[in-house]
Amino acid sequence: MSKIPTQLLELALEAKSRALAPYSHFRVGAALRTAAGKIYQAGNIETSSYGLTLCAERVVLFKALSEGERDFSHIAIATDTDTFCTPCGACRQVLWDYARSVEIVLINSVESTRFYTLRELLPDAFGDATLKNKS
Ligand code: THU
Repeated sequence: MSKIPTQLLELALEAKSRALAPYSHFRVGAALRTAAGKIYQAGNIETSSYGLTLCAERVVLFKALSEGERDFSHIAIATDTDTFCTPCGACRQVLWDYARSVEIVLINSVESTRFYTLRELLPDAFGDATLKNKS
């Protein structure tokens, strides 16, 4: 595992403080680092039509992709929970499609960290390779 820049953790915590979670009050902050070292930040964004909510992981990934970024090294995800909050299933799929090799760093409420690869969280993933196997 590569060394995690302290700044990445700090930016995930800062993003959490800016999360828009007026309905669940479950704030999530994400910081996504590109291979070149640039870091994007985002929190979850909830709406009054609850199903339109976007998780912090997808907001930050779409933010970076829309800026032309394609190569990512780490994503740090911070929550106010004692346990470590892993990305939801939808975010795992989107990360698999666009940021497959990121190291995932989870940060809990006391700022302890835990690390995962996406492959650990999404074994036997569906993806572009499956689509190409259509007969
Ligand atoms: N949420 C995230 O932002 N990331 C996750 O990995 C899990 C859930 C958000 C969505 C919603 O705004 C709130 O947390 C409660 O589900």
